[in-house]
Amino acid sequence: MDRIENVRKVVDEIVLNIVDAEERRCAYLHLYGVSQACALLAMKRQENIELATIAGMLHDIYSYANMDSKDHAHKGAEMARDILVSLNEFSEEEINLICTAIYNHSDKLDIHGVLDEILKDADVMQHVLYNPLFSVKANEQKRFDSLKVEFNLQI
Ligand SMILES: [Fe+2]
Repeated sequence: MDRIENVRKVVDEIVLNIVDAEERRCAYLHLYGVSQACALLAMKRQENIELATIAGMLHDIYSYANMDSKDHAHKGAEMARDILVSLNEFSEEEINLICTAIYNHSDKLDIHGVLDEILKDADVMQHVLYNPLFSVKANEQKRFDSLKVEFNLQI
């Protein structure tokens, strides 16, 4: 199995423990959706596809493990670090890149590193694609406007 699938096994176990079926559905959709959007953005921007895909899988893990989204980006970075260290197949540099992206992902109005930006944009992309009829969140509008330009979406 590859490293993406190894991370997904750990994430799946956490999500499976969510008692509420509707919350569980949202968790799967959101984590896999952001992970796939991360892959697409990394392909488009010629960045590290594997690390981006993994960052997407783990980015909201704290929220779903604890059903508590308060400060979930910072707490989730620590939780993701524990998971990645326990898998024993990532370098310190790779772990730092993934965990920094998770740490920064709630700061949608600021610009951070390349992987951080992929994760933030992927989070926005999944929110929009989940139901394109919903209105875009105020703090995500600017990023969505940039994504429309980047993907040449005429909407
Ligand atoms: Fe998210």
